[in-house]
Amino acid sequence: MILSPTRQILSESLRPIRAEGLLLGLVPTMGYIHEGHLSLVDLARERSEFLAVSIFVNPLQFGPGEDLSRYPRELDRDLTLLRDRGADLVFFPSVEEMYPDGALQVVVDPGPMSQRLCGVHRPGHFGGVLTVVARLFGLFRPQIALFGQKDYQQAVLVRRMVRDLEMGVEVVLGPIVREEDGLALSSRNVFLSRDERADALGLRRGLQEVQRAFEEGNRSGQELGRVLFREVEKHPLLQLQYGEIVHPDSLEPLETVVPGAVAAVAAHCGGTRLIDNHILKG
Ligand code: PAF
Repeated sequence: MILSPTRQILSESLRPIRAEGLLLGLVPTMGYIHEGHLSLVDLARERSEFLAVSIFVNPLQFGPGEDLSRYPRELDRDLTLLRDRGADLVFFPSVEEMYPDGALQVVVDPGPMSQRLCGVHRPGHFGGVLTVVARLFGLFRPQIALFGQKDYQQAVLVRRMVRDLEMGVEVVLGPIVREEDGLALSSRNVFLSRDERADALGLRRGLQEVQRAFEEGNRSGQELGRVLFREVEKHPLLQLQYGEIVHPDSLEPLETVVPGAVAAVAAHCGGTRLIDNHILKG
């Protein structure tokens, strides 16, 4: 596995890959690798001939007061996990290496879909995400890039950026990977105390209740939203930010819910912000 802490090593390492015409797959991450990331690595390996992973905790996507400084980082462990899982290259630049000219003058405007759901509570977040993803796409020029369904809004926005800016990258969405009891894997789960960890399951339970009500014939977006609230409220350590049933592409709230709609939820659990979602089947 090639270790690339710099853009220089990255471009030298990718030159022969491009010359040979190998299909390059990229899994962008912020590190603290877990099975969710590794499942994307597995998917990428099936679909590409050279598999690259980036690890970069991107300051542009953290707002003031968010958890940038305490975001978990464990590079050696990450590199071992990625090597064992068959990654061909890992790019892990410092902030100075990623943004050598300091603050960027030109950034990506993520547009109206970024104002919904998480965007309401994290102003500027998706601009930061799309800007770093665009930069990674520029550095790697991958044919395919993989993102997890857990960050559903992020994946929709990346797809839209690729489409609107003709970036020519196939964006593949990997399914949510969960703990045995249903908690969606996240690097931030490490911050949860035992009690918080127990209450965090309320998000998943809320989504399951929505699915159940939908199967029983409830098609009202508002009522299904209330089903979600009621379940989340049973968990006192959860402070709900939003719970909505939205269109899978536009992220607009749905009055009438159809299969394929996305139930999306975000809450603080103690000091940790958690998100989860579920694509309704029916
Ligand atoms: O999902 C993440 O880990 C990050 O938002 C990403 C896509 C790597 C951009 O920093």
